Parts: sequence; C-alpha cells; structure tokens
Amino acid sequence: MYKSKIIGMGYSVPENIISNNDLSKIMDTSDDWIQSRSGIKERRWATNDVSTSDLALEASRAAIKNSKINSSDIDMIIVGTLSSDYFFPGVSAQLQEKLNLKTIGAFDIKAACSAFIYSVSIADQFIKTGAANTVLVVGAETQTKLIEKSTKGRDVAVLFGDGAGAALLSRSNSESSILSTHLHSDGKHLKSLWMEAPGTSKDSWVNGSIDLSKFTPKMNGREVFRNAVTRFPEVINEALDANDLDINDIKFIVPHQANYRISEAIAKKLNIKMDKVISNIHKYGNTTAASIPIALAEALESNKISKGDIIILAAFGAGFTWASAAIRW
Ligand code: UT7
Repeated sequence: MYKSKIIGMGYSVPENIISNNDLSKIMDTSDDWIQSRSGIKERRWATNDVSTSDLALEASRAAIKNSKINSSDIDMIIVGTLSSDYFFPGVSAQLQEKLNLKTIGAFDIKAACSAFIYSVSIADQFIKTGAANTVLVVGAETQTKLIEKSTKGRDVAVLFGDGAGAALLSRSNSESSILSTHLHSDGKHLKSLWMEAPGTSKDSWVNGSIDLSKFTPKMNGREVFRNAVTRFPEVINEALDANDLDINDIKFIVPHQANYRISEAIAKKLNIKMDKVISNIHKYGNTTAASIPIALAEALESNKISKGDIIILAAFGAGFTWASAAIRW
C-alpha cells in the first residue's frame, strides 16, 4: 500500500460581506443574539452571478498553484457540496472542464458538513491502492442562495455562509501522510437538518408541482447541537486510538466550523485549550463542506502548521454524518 498526503491547499470566499447588523435589518435578530449563540460576526453571501463552481474553481486554482504541480497531473476530482450549480450533474464535472483537464474521473459527495473529510478519505483510498496519483478534493458551497432570509428562517439564516476550499492529495514517500480516516452516519436523524425539495420523495410534491415551502434548509438546532457535542469528541478519540496517539501529541484540531460553542464543548471534553482548536467562524459562519478546507488553508497560510505536526480534522452535520482524519504534516 502507498500513502497519501496533502501537497497544497487554496480557498476562495465571495466578496460580499454580510454583518450581523445587516441581518438585523432584514429579520428579527441581533448582533448580540448571533454572537452569543454562535460566535459569528459576519459571513460571505455569494451574489447571483457567483455560483458554487466559480468558488470551487478559484480555490482549486490556488491549491494547484500552492502545490506546484501541473494541473495535467490531476487524475481524479472529488467535490463535497450540497449546493451544486445544478441538481445534476455535479460541480466536479464542471471543474474538469473549467480546469481544462483530461477526461478523468470526477464525482460529487453529498455528505453535508462531513463531505470534505469523506472526500479526503475516498482520495486517500484511491492513492493508497495506486489507482490514482494526484486527486483534487474540494469543499464548496453557495448555500445561502437556498436559505430563507426572513424572521421565519432566522435560526438557519444567521449561521450559514458561502465559500470554497481545495486540497491536492498525492502519493507520499515520506512520514507526511494521511494517518487515518473514520466515517460515520446515522440516518434516523435525517429530518433534524435537511432540505426536502427538490427531491423524488412524494412528500416533496403537491398536485404535481414541487412544494416551494420545502425548498429551503430546515434545522432542529438543539438536536444538532446535542448530537454534535457527543459525536465530535467521539470521532476525534477514534482517530487518536487508531494511531496510538494522545491528545497532547496533536498540534491542532480543525473542526467543521458549526458553532463556536460547539468547538468550546469539544475542547472541554478533550481537556484542551481553545488555542489548539482552529476557528474562523467569526468571519465566515458555517460554510458546510467548505469550512474545514478553508480553515486548514488559512492555518497553512499563516504558518501555524509545520512539517511533522499531527492534526485532526473532524466534522459533524446533516445525515447525521460525522468523520475525522488524522494527518501528519
Ligand atoms: O453543521 C451543523 C449545522 N448546524 C449547527 O451546528 C447548529 C447547532 N445548533 C446551534 O448552533 C443552536 O441550536 C442555535 C444557534 C441554532 C440556536 O441556539 P439555541 O440556544 O439552541 O436557541 P433556540 O433554538 O433554543 O432558540 C432560543 C430562542 C427562541 O425564542 P423563544 O422560543 O425562546 O422565544 C428562538 O425563536 O431564540 C429564538 N431565535 C432567535 N432569536 C434571534 C432563534 N433564532 C434566532 C435568531 N435571532 N437568529
């Protein structure tokens, strides 16, 4: 078996900054409520002319540049997203064309906030077996186009933002590598965080037409919170156990940016200080599949991570799905 490692990362966020005060002008909410409940100060909302594939393309180009490879070396594309430009096909096929690549394999992964780690795990398996050498893995969303921007939808609307992050994974001949990945799901919580339409379920349709009231994400925030604070530490501990590591061996936890209070609960359960937990939620909100690669790319950009450091990526989200990846840099 071979090993894989991340050789370069990039990210892209829309220019359009929406502050908590901006939101309070269009719905009954406040800067104080949002900051105290989630730690979010502002987020980016893609304008109508910017779609998920545009952000994915910019993030991918930055990752290709940072990894110093030729884009022709890429032999697979995996995109994690729940807000693809079209219902089908996926953003991955658009990237293949926009990056001017050969007719390589390209597919999307719909595992919500866990989609980036799911995609890294798949890329790792392909590289380990020798079936692929260099895989472009992207998490990208413009999900705020789907949210209900009114008091009715405020519980969801204040949390989410848009963006994209990309990683290039390639075969490793050194200690630097993906050490392990662990993926989980529990479908009984499907309706705690979901968007019912457009879909093929009979419930999505009324008299032959899509029920537009179901064409927006819905969330039981408390249920998500309760499960997240259990599953995050659980899957991080799973990564530690699988690699015979102690939490003190870890330089950083890079959690999916769901809510600052969830990150604080993770730190408390793992008995670590918050300076070991990467956080950028105050700037971008929850960008679903994009949050981990954006946070990781920013941490690399500011030289927080050095060769030999061990980090753990961890995610939890709709499905429910949850996952972790332990990486030696
Ligand atoms: O990637 C995973 C994605 N999702 C998450 O991570 C979400 C996890 N859950 C959470 O982060 C929290 O549950 C929320 C931040 C969504 C909500 O915080 P909470 O402390 O659980 O509040 P709540 O839902 O229990 O609502 C408390 C009150 C309610 O009013 P009443 O019934 O007490 O009068 C809500 O109607 O706050 C009200 N509320 C708001 N008020 C101002 C709900 N949303 C808002 C809002 N602004 N945006």
